[in-house]
Amino acid sequence: MNQTVETILKRRSTRNFDSKMLKNKELDTIIKCGLYAPSAKDKQNWHLTVITNKQKIDEISQGVVDGLAKIGLERDPGFHVFYHAPVVIVVSSKIEGYSEVNAGCLVENMAIAATSMNIGSCIIGQTKYLYKGQTIQEGNRLLRIPEGYEHDISICFGYPLEENEPTPRKEKIVDYIK
Ligand SMILES: Cc1cc2nc3c(=O)[nH]c(=O)nc-3n(C[C@H](O)[C@H](O)[C@H](O)COP(=O)(O)O)c2cc1C
Repeated sequence: MNQTVETILKRRSTRNFDSKMLKNKELDTIIKCGLYAPSAKDKQNWHLTVITNKQKIDEISQGVVDGLAKIGLERDPGFHVFYHAPVVIVVSSKIEGYSEVNAGCLVENMAIAATSMNIGSCIIGQTKYLYKGQTIQEGNRLLRIPEGYEHDISICFGYPLEENEPTPRKEKIVDYIK
């Protein structure tokens, strides 16, 4: 097995992070790998908000928890949407076809790049619940999402304090037409 395949098979979501900040070079590499993801028609119509400010990360987490509560999805006290990771990247896109797929390629590229450097990550879909407690304008301002773009997904990073084995993969879900 080559190293790329090994890294892909090794990647797991991390939910227990060291508070230590990533090195600039590591973060730059992760972002670069994200930006080298494919996008439909090569539009690269995405935007990244890279958040390393703990206070801001906590504020966004609280906003999401409040939004979840508004629709009856209570979280345990102390729940942190980003598991106290020191880095959060919010991905938003211009509202065009395939934006979500493009964003998915982008975050997975970043997750695999992180794994290759022994950095943990967790893709976070729940950030969208921020908008249950705030208007689109307020939420976009908090997440620094530019005009004409909308929130897709986020992903958090940090040095992992845990190591997990991959979960078993479902079987009988591949058909071949030969
Ligand atoms: C689109 C998407 C949204 C996700 N949202 C969350 C989330 O909000 N919180 C969380 O803890 N994990 C989230 N995850 C991580 C999944 O729970 C995780 O990938 C899955 O349980 C498989 O585990 P693994 O990543 O360790 O292989 C998300 C993953 C994807 C792809």
